[in-house]
Amino acid sequence: MSQTGTLAFIGAGNMAQAIIKGLIKQGFAASNITATDPDQAKLAQLQAEIGIQVTPDNHQACAQADTIVIAVKPQVMPEVMQHLGDAIDGQRHLIISIAAGVMASSMSNWLGKDTAIVRCMPNTPALVGKGASALYANEQTSDEQKTIAEQVLQAVGISIWVDDEGLIDTVTAVSGSGPAYYFLMMESMIAAAQGLGLSAEQAKALVLQTAAGAAEMAQTGYQSPAELRVAVTSPKGTTEAALNSFYADGYSDSVAKAMQAAFDRSQELAELFK
Ligand SMILES: NC(=O)c1ccc[n+]([C@@H]2O[C@H](COP(=O)([O-])OP(=O)(O)OC[C@H]3O[C@@H](n4cnc5c(N)ncnc54)[C@H](OP(=O)(O)O)[C@@H]3O)[C@@H](O)[C@H]2O)c1
Repeated sequence: MSQTGTLAFIGAGNMAQAIIKGLIKQGFAASNITATDPDQAKLAQLQAEIGIQVTPDNHQACAQADTIVIAVKPQVMPEVMQHLGDAIDGQRHLIISIAAGVMASSMSNWLGKDTAIVRCMPNTPALVGKGASALYANEQTSDEQKTIAEQVLQAVGISIWVDDEGLIDTVTAVSGSGPAYYFLMMESMIAAAQGLGLSAEQAKALVLQTAAGAAEMAQTGYQSPAELRVAVTSPKGTTEAALNSFYADGYSDSVAKAMQAAFDRSQELAELFK
């Protein structure tokens, strides 16, 4: 973490706080982090709780930092970036944006200058340190700056690079929206378990532990998800009966169709924030 330098977070909401806390947990010095937000009470609490520097002034935060993490909602990005323009030094600063749907070229236009920009698509499990994010760097970003961006995002989980910004829409459909697909599966299984006689509490305990256990088995990497599925499916057994019912209802096609819908919507939103 030593080469990460100084960081400013523009916007101190849920995602920014998750990343800041992850960085500090990994040994990054709190004194090298500055956060800004319109909410003074939120800033005071963060300062007291974790010892970072705080200011309501975005320009002041940029002057104190080499890397600037933009963590505001997409709707306010044009205003925030236009206002930041004067405070950004294209030779010095790396901008990391976690705003969904906002393209690197739009950010350069709003800033009014070319500077290193890494666009990131994180997901909500970052809030518990289990995030999965994809990163895209524009042409101005050096290898050293890419390493810094990786270190920042890896404070809250894993990250991968994509070299085509269009793939961020794919990532949105996979890991960005993905947690909700698993939550829906959990909800459906809990409801069905209750229909088959378990209490809500019993159903929830078994379903959540089953999801966590299955994910952990898949993550060991010894066997692929397909091999694991085959291994637990005895011929003419109960699992086969359930899977055959899924196949008959077109489960895989339904998943592919849902992910295509997320991808299409991500492209539409990117047009809105241009
Ligand atoms: N949460 C997720 O799971 C998730 C996943 C993927 C991507 N993202 C992206 O991450 C970004 C942040 O999301 P979030 O959930 O952390 O949102 P959030 O909790 O609403 O945080 C955004 C913060 O920025 C503050 N802010 C607004 N205008 C500002 C300004 N001019 N200068 C400085 N701060 C300002 C907001 O203050 P006010 O509330 O007072 O306006 C708020 O505290 C979004 O762009 C979102 O697309 C989030």
